[in-house]
Parts: sequence; structure tokens; C-alpha cells
Amino acid sequence: MAASQPLAAETDLEGGFDRIAKGYDFLTQMNPGYRKHLRWSARRLCLPPGARVLDLCCGSGLSTQALLDVYPDLDHVVGLDASAGMLARAARRLPKGKVTLVHGDATDPAAAGVEGPFDGVMMAYGIRNVPDRDACLENILALLRPGGRVAFHEYSVADSVVQKALWNAVCFGVIAPSGIALTGVVDIWEYLRRSVNEFDGVKAFCARLERAGFVGVEERPTDGWQAHILHTFIGRRPAE
Ligand SMILES: C[S@@+](CC[C@H](N)C(=O)[O-])C[C@H]1O[C@@H](n2cnc3c(N)ncnc32)[C@H](O)[C@@H]1O
Repeated sequence: MAASQPLAAETDLEGGFDRIAKGYDFLTQMNPGYRKHLRWSARRLCLPPGARVLDLCCGSGLSTQALLDVYPDLDHVVGLDASAGMLARAARRLPKGKVTLVHGDATDPAAAGVEGPFDGVMMAYGIRNVPDRDACLENILALLRPGGRVAFHEYSVADSVVQKALWNAVCFGVIAPSGIALTGVVDIWEYLRRSVNEFDGVKAFCARLERAGFVGVEERPTDGWQAHILHTFIGRRPAE
């Protein structure tokens, strides 16, 4: 599948997220289930006690907070994001000590200095934004310990005309108008709508994960209006 088009010719994704960083947390509070569903995906990672975890595309830290809420005994979380503005908000939210924040590209976390092995990798609303998804998955696999687990928390509508229509209606009618009103930024909401439409269907993304070498790949639904629009995709690196 072709990667999504960039936000707009004159902008980039990091810049787009920098521009909405201030309003992002307030906007997500208006989304019923945003934080609850992140906790569901964190729980579906099934981390062992004392785990070391990587949160790719951690943004303002809501997914990192979900990991800390679900696993109060985890050892450490590394949160990586390409947007300095989102990371600044994450730094304000998250407890010092248990969390390290890294500015970098999720396609190749090692290039930003992130060192494995990790017991788990969470990527919430991230993989859809990465142009070279296969390279990203290969690099994630390499950062996991044998048996280590992944959870991708992501929108996918390509397999269902009904879900696609619902997604576009909610995006046009609710998400884009609220997002524009709260952030003053227009193009990122159109990018969001389009990138979800263009992302892999559920079957294609599961197949992509298996091709990358993950085993035990499964899709789990969420609930509410986004029940079959927002999914958790889980898998693990084979044990050696
Ligand atoms: C919608 S936010 C999600 C943040 C967080 N995971 C959450 O659940 O609230 C998506 C984040 O992905 C980041 N992002 C997009 N492409 C990226 C890339 N290639 N590398 C690192 N971060 C990226 C953006 O900067 C943004 O902060």
C-alpha cells in the first residue's frame, strides 16, 4: 500500500503536531474512551512484572500514562516522539525517574539512541504516520527481547464500507470542527481523515505484522462508536 501523502506540501508531520500540541490534551478529553482505550491496549500487551517498555510516538504522554496506570510496577518506559512540542507536554505530565523521553523518528528508534531489549513496545496512533512501515516493524522486532510483545493501537477502516463511512462522518462532523476550533490548525485534521482512509485494513495489517516476523498476531476491537474503527493489534517476537 502507498504511504499517506504528507500533511501539505509546505508542512511536515512533526511541525503539524508541534502546532496542535497545546490543544491536543483538551481535545482528547472530549473523545469518549480515548484514555480508556489506551489503557485497554496497554493491558493487552500483557507485560511481566518489572518490565522495560518502549512507547513509540508517545506524543504528549497519554499512552505512556496509560502504561504507568496499568503497570504500576513497571521498571522503566522510554517514550519517543518526533515532535518537540508534544514531548514538552509529556515532560510536564509524566513522573521523572521511571520515564525517559527521546526526540526521534519512530522508523528507526536505535538511530535516536534507543537501546533494547524491551519486554514490550506500545505504539498508539503511530504506525499509520510512518512512511516506511515495514522498516519500522523490522526495527521494533530487533529491539524486543525474544518473546517480547507489541501492541499497535490504531484506526483501520479499509475492510468495511460501513466503518469507513462512519469514520468520515465523525471526522467531518465532529473531530475536524472541534480540532480547528481548539487549535486554529486546519490541515492536520484533513491529514488525519485521509491517513486513516488510506491505512491498511485489519487483515492487511495483521499480514504485514506476520511478514515482519511477529507471531501470535491478533486484532482486538474497542467499544462505542469506534468499536470496529479503533483496534489493538497484538503480537510478539518468537521466543528463541
Ligand atoms: C496522535 S499522536 C498520539 C500520541 C500518543 N501516543 C497518544 O496516544 O496520545 C501521534 C504522535 O505521533 C508522532 N509521530 C508521527 N510520526 C512520527 C514518526 N515518524 N516518528 C516519531 N513520532 C511520530 C507525532 O509527533 C504525534 O505526537
